[in-house]
Amino acid sequence: MIKLPHFLRRKRSSAKTRESHSVRDYRALVRAKLKSLPDDPALALAQAIGAPTMADFMSIGDGHVAVLRHHGLVDGMTVYDLGCGCGRTAQALVRTGWRGQYTGADVVQELIDELARQCPGYDVLLNVTPRIVAPDASLDMVFHWSVFTHLYPGESYLYTSDAFRALRPGGKMIFSFLEMEEPEHDRVWNANLDHLRRGNAAEHLDAFLHRDWIHRFARNAGFAEPRFTNGQDSKDHPPFWQSLAVLEKPA
Ligand SMILES: C[S@@+](CC[C@H](N)C(=O)[O-])C[C@H]1O[C@@H](n2cnc3c(N)ncnc32)[C@H](O)[C@@H]1O
Repeated sequence: MIKLPHFLRRKRSSAKTRESHSVRDYRALVRAKLKSLPDDPALALAQAIGAPTMADFMSIGDGHVAVLRHHGLVDGMTVYDLGCGCGRTAQALVRTGWRGQYTGADVVQELIDELARQCPGYDVLLNVTPRIVAPDASLDMVFHWSVFTHLYPGESYLYTSDAFRALRPGGKMIFSFLEMEEPEHDRVWNANLDHLRRGNAAEHLDAFLHRDWIHRFARNAGFAEPRFTNGQDSKDHPPFWQSLAVLEKPA
């Protein structure tokens, strides 16, 4: 075999990089929604991230903020919203008057453009790598809602491990996930089975995680043992239809 010079080898291997499944699927979904609702882009983008109406978009966002407040969000913190979409949480943070340093990251340009439009003063970034784009030990919270629900376990692990790097000691990663043992999540499972039975491709991957896997992600990344709820207990915040996990970086 002919050995290629070094610079040619690098070029050939970078040409092989392919867009990941979730980037491709979410970009297609956002563009299809914008095309189907040309007169109401805000609603189109809200629907692309799973909110049927703007009223749902706002009440779900308020619920996100209530979860964050319950887990210690206060003014002055530095937070990172992974898979921020068009700013369901960011817009709710603005509505509640929270003051702090917010960065939202997503893989779809149209979504982060909308967030930037709605929330001047918040930072947004487009990132398609499984990394948290922040310096070491710089964040108080990394949160993400319905994001690991669309990724392969390896992608979720890489984000978890990089969140550990980017969090300050005592910082938290808070996120939602789908699990098999939770009857509320059956509708996602059943919808997926319907797609498979009909031989249809779903719009995007819907991924379930097991609490044992999250324990392992946390342990391997360096976090303390995770805490979980099924999200539906309305004692501390409005019911959240996915399960919730809280991972803390030891102080
Ligand atoms: C169901 S939406 C949830 C949006 C937002 N977290 C919320 O709850 O309002 C899933 C989001 O994850 C984003 N996403 C898809 N693949 C991703 C990836 N590999 N890394 C980060 N975000 C991703 C999508 O573009 C979309 O904005």
